Amino acid sequence: MATIRNMLKKASDCLAKGKSPTPVLDSELLLIHAFEAYQIRMNRIKLITESHQEVETNVEKAFMALINERSMGKPVQYITGKQDFMGLELSISEGVLIPRGDTEVAVDRAVSLKNGSEGLKIIDMCTGSGAIAVALAVRFPDAVIYAVDISPAALACARVNVEKYGLQDRVRLIEGDLFASLKGLNLENNIDILISNPPYIPTEDIGCLEDNVKNFEPLLALDGGADGLDFYSRLILDGAVWLKQGGCLVMEIGHDQGQNVMNMAEAGGLYTNVYLEKDLAGLDRCVSAIRR
Ligand SMILES: C[S@@+](CC[C@H](N)C(=O)[O-])C[C@H]1O[C@@H](n2cnc3c(N)ncnc32)[C@H](O)[C@@H]1O
Repeated sequence: MATIRNMLKKASDCLAKGKSPTPVLDSELLLIHAFEAYQIRMNRIKLITESHQEVETNVEKAFMALINERSMGKPVQYITGKQDFMGLELSISEGVLIPRGDTEVAVDRAVSLKNGSEGLKIIDMCTGSGAIAVALAVRFPDAVIYAVDISPAALACARVNVEKYGLQDRVRLIEGDLFASLKGLNLENNIDILISNPPYIPTEDIGCLEDNVKNFEPLLALDGGADGLDFYSRLILDGAVWLKQGGCLVMEIGHDQGQNVMNMAEAGGLYTNVYLEKDLAGLDRCVSAIRR
């Protein structure tokens, strides 16, 4: 039988030859997943402290099958069905965008704008896996969140996450095209936070994305129209109908979209305090604005 250390070395060498930019981490996460399939609890620290331990053949076989899937380009998160977001473990399924660390910038911005507020009403537009909705519901324990997506697959995944954290009383999952399905809920001029990570990749750039993104993640979650900005004009204009005075609009943006989205938010006089937040790498990441 091979030891944990030997198996990880073999697997990470194999993934390094392929397309994974993070072969060691991928191998560790997939070995933990293989152990879990046999009810053996593992974590990355134990993989190091118990690296000399021999691995049962059934776990080894399961692990090598997972490594094989990964070597074909499938993202680790679609193999394990999990992704961490804002310290929460979320369930992820194929057909749903994998939540990114980048999106935590927008969540942090929303939290800092409304820190200490109670009874918030929040819209998470384009909720996908429900990552933003769940994180804000946990952060604001009496908030009500309307989480909208056009994709039934995304909403099914979001439902799993909402139930996992026992939030079904406060996170309402709504299927529809942006704001259309919110009509009739009496939310106009009533929303404290409108947050969204919409599709924002320019259509013609999609072919240039990394293989693991363009071959596995849903086009519906990526395609932001010819210039990538289609959704921002709708969020900014239509969003003003739903936000209350002093309510905040928080949008994740692409790394080079800051000036364009700020200009859109500043035009028309609907908002004040338009603010561009950069991420730790110094790239444009989020635009926020306050409804006049
Ligand atoms: C970039 S993903 C964001 C998912 C999630 N909020 C996150 O941050 O991980 C964009 C989401 O927008 C959804 N979407 C695309 N077009 C939409 C529309 N017209 N109305 C509502 N949702 C839409 C997609 O299904 C996808 O789940």
